[in-house]
Amino acid sequence: MKTSIYTVDQMQNQLVKKHLAKILKEGGLVVFPTETVYGIGANALDPLAASKIYEVKGRPADNPLIVHIDNLHMLKALTLEINLQARKLIQAFWPGPLTLIFKKSDLVPNTITANLDTVAIRFPSHPAARQLIKLAKFPIAAPSANISGRPSSTLFKHVKEDLDGLVDIIIDGGKSTIGLESTVLDVTTEVPTILRPGSITKRMIESVLEHSITDASKTEVIDAPKSPGMKYTHYAPKGKIILVDGLKEEVIDYINKAITILDHEKTAVICAKEYVSAIKCKHIFDLGSIEDSEEIASNLFIALRTMDELGIEQIYTHSFKDEQLGQAIMNRLLKAAGYNIIRL
Ligand code: TXA
Ligand code: MG
Repeated sequence: MKTSIYTVDQMQNQLVKKHLAKILKEGGLVVFPTETVYGIGANALDPLAASKIYEVKGRPADNPLIVHIDNLHMLKALTLEINLQARKLIQAFWPGPLTLIFKKSDLVPNTITANLDTVAIRFPSHPAARQLIKLAKFPIAAPSANISGRPSSTLFKHVKEDLDGLVDIIIDGGKSTIGLESTVLDVTTEVPTILRPGSITKRMIESVLEHSITDASKTEVIDAPKSPGMKYTHYAPKGKIILVDGLKEEVIDYINKAITILDHEKTAVICAKEYVSAIKCKHIFDLGSIEDSEEIASNLFIALRTMDELGIEQIYTHSFKDEQLGQAIMNRLLKAAGYNIIRL
């Protein structure tokens, strides 16, 4: 398949608009930028279009998709009930990086929800994502735009690497602002549950609801995961990641000792800026300042993908403060490391 490539600016062009609408109506696939990560989109009301997403990503059929909307009429049509908690969160955080789980209406095909009776809905804030849904006039199902198991794409070149020739259109929106996927929150239960941490943090949600909520994303091994996505290996580069937890000086010392016996061409360290000058390794990826978790978050998947580009086999990294946005950072790092953590 020949993939057409457009920039976000070209989405204002009439011919491009027509092309985008036509492809989506015919059940094709369009990769588009969002404020979190790139998404691979198709008509959420068309089971065949949705099944193409699973096929192209190599995604397990029991891992449901998020449905992206651009107005609350769509939300009403896709769900059975929007309770008071959901209303408060919508008011506070939509459009934005919060995905909510609702009881689904019959309009949502079972292919989208992997036969669950719930549906994940997200109202993105990125103008290109919103324009695409407006052009389509129907909701768009979109998982992250990566081959299953690889880190989500947050740069156009990473989208291209995974999906060029496999999708109809890719829209180049540059680097994703947030860089980690949306927070997923189940609001069907009396006490809402975080299924995936993101940049809308537990504390932010609790302050809107004025009561505490549950976080199910911390459990390492889950027998019956509430969110099917929780049980799969994610975000993993080909090399092995070793996550070292401890005080800065101890961690630096540990990593420097550990890497002396390793092949320097195939070893890398992913770390915060404050660690860089003390680390004695040929390949160092600087995530940004430890004081700036937004910067760290926006660079994390780029770091993981760079490891594969360099052919790295062993990757050392360190833990981050497990609070606020740091919770989402640690969640992705732990998954990428297969929970391989050394506590000093
Ligand atoms: O930021 C994002 O959310 C990005 C952009 C493209 O919007 N999308 C994204 O989609 O990360 P994906 O498919 O990579 O992750 C969706 C997550 C999975 O962990 C999936 O299991 C969960 O949401 N999910 C979807 N529907 C669900 C449902 N009905 N109940 C529980 N979890 C659900
Ligand atoms: Mg994903």
